[in-house]
Amino acid sequence: PKALILAGGFGSRLRPLTFSKPKPLVELLNKPMLLHQLEAISKLGVKKIVLAVSNFGETLQTFIKQFNQQNGTVEVIVSKEDYPLGTAGPIKLAEKHLKGDDPIFIVNSDIICEFPLKELLDFHIKKQSTVTILGFKVENPSRYGVIIPDKEGLVQRFVEKPQTFVGNLINTGVVVVNPRLLELIPENKFCSLEREIYPKLVGQQCIYCFQKGSFWIDLGIPADYILGAQLYMNYLRNTNKDERNETLNKLQQKFLKSNIIENETIEKETQQQQQQSNSKIIGNVIVPQKENSFKIGKGCILGPNVVLGSNVTIGEGCRIFNSTILENVTIGNHTLIEGSVVGWKSKIGNWVQIRNNSVLGLDVTVRDNCILNSVSICPNKSINTSIWEKTVIL
Ligand code: GTP
Ligand code: GTP
Repeated sequence: PKALILAGGFGSRLRPLTFSKPKPLVELLNKPMLLHQLEAISKLGVKKIVLAVSNFGETLQTFIKQFNQQNGTVEVIVSKEDYPLGTAGPIKLAEKHLKGDDPIFIVNSDIICEFPLKELLDFHIKKQSTVTILGFKVENPSRYGVIIPDKEGLVQRFVEKPQTFVGNLINTGVVVVNPRLLELIPENKFCSLEREIYPKLVGQQCIYCFQKGSFWIDLGIPADYILGAQLYMNYLRNTNKDERNETLNKLQQKFLKSNIIENETIEKETQQQQQQSNSKIIGNVIVPQKENSFKIGKGCILGPNVVLGSNVTIGEGCRIFNSTILENVTIGNHTLIEGSVVGWKSKIGNWVQIRNNSVLGLDVTVRDNCILNSVSICPNKSINTSIWEKTVIL
């Protein structure tokens, strides 16, 4: 198969993080989001992956260069739009890389799931489908494209962002298409798969939905980024027990050795560190690959669902759960962080509380004793007083 990853959006809903980094490079579990997709696709033996971008800055360029140097088997080819072409337009633009007989995976760069790509592909081929969408049931489908399939998976209706409830099976942003789809997309023109192409195919009875997987989430808004990290950690922990799945197991082992510390492994791996610091770990806590690239003071309780980036320093008596602390953050003593994201290089004081879907951008300073509740803070800001209500600090 071939593959294209859609990575040209603005990521405006994931501000303030996306003020400082393109959305595909914001780290989830200490790895750029995009790397999760690249790895999943690479495992299928895909040789070339097209990365469809519209704003291709230096950071993304450097990332791709490094990725290509480090990976002998798969090459990322950048396809750059002069102006945003939507979700279908970029596929047409990359036609020269995609045409032929091979089925093509089209994957959004901001979602995380189990990536059951092999099963999706098998189903697609069996049905001789033009488009096969990986579907997933969610509780609140209004932000997504809702799919209504028949028993065979043949899609009867596709409703993008429905205003009223039509169903809760949604488009995950992972699809596989037959190359004949290329003929349906206009050249050099903004075109949406969801609004223009899929509805057309529904009428022609050649779009299918395939369902598999225990979790999926769109990481595009802060609350879901925070929930997504939790779901993904749980998933990694659960699949580790499943010896049958070899590929996942490899990923797991790598994580377990270096990254995930859970109830059992903590005793073996960081006993020494725990004794020295008498800190406690609860449930899933992910720390950087390199030992000693983070510091945890005495008497902290971390977890469940904590990710610490490299060079994070945490003082004494801190309590952190359901949160991601990105690289190079410093946290003082007796500080509480719950359900939040702390941006790269931020400096958090003593006796601070950061709670309830707060997101701090790059290099934010929070002074001692401040309480932040559901607050988004733009990069380089300094916060001196408590903020109790849902607020954006520009
Ligand atoms: P928001 O600005 O927060 O809405 O984010 P977004 O622009 O990324 O939009 P959305 O989450 O709806 O995009 C879904 C996927 O399509 C993401 O992986 C985007 O990177 C990608 N995408 C959206 N628009 C374009 C586009 O014009 N060109 C390309 N190449 N990709 C796009
Ligand atoms: P258990 O089911 O007891 O393991 O707890 P849980 O927290 O994993 O799941 P729960 O059903 O309590 O879900 C909590 C919230 O997360 C609900 O609003 C669910 O809709 C949502 N949720 C759970 N799993 C997923 C998922 O895989 N994707 C998405 N998008 N939402 C999910």
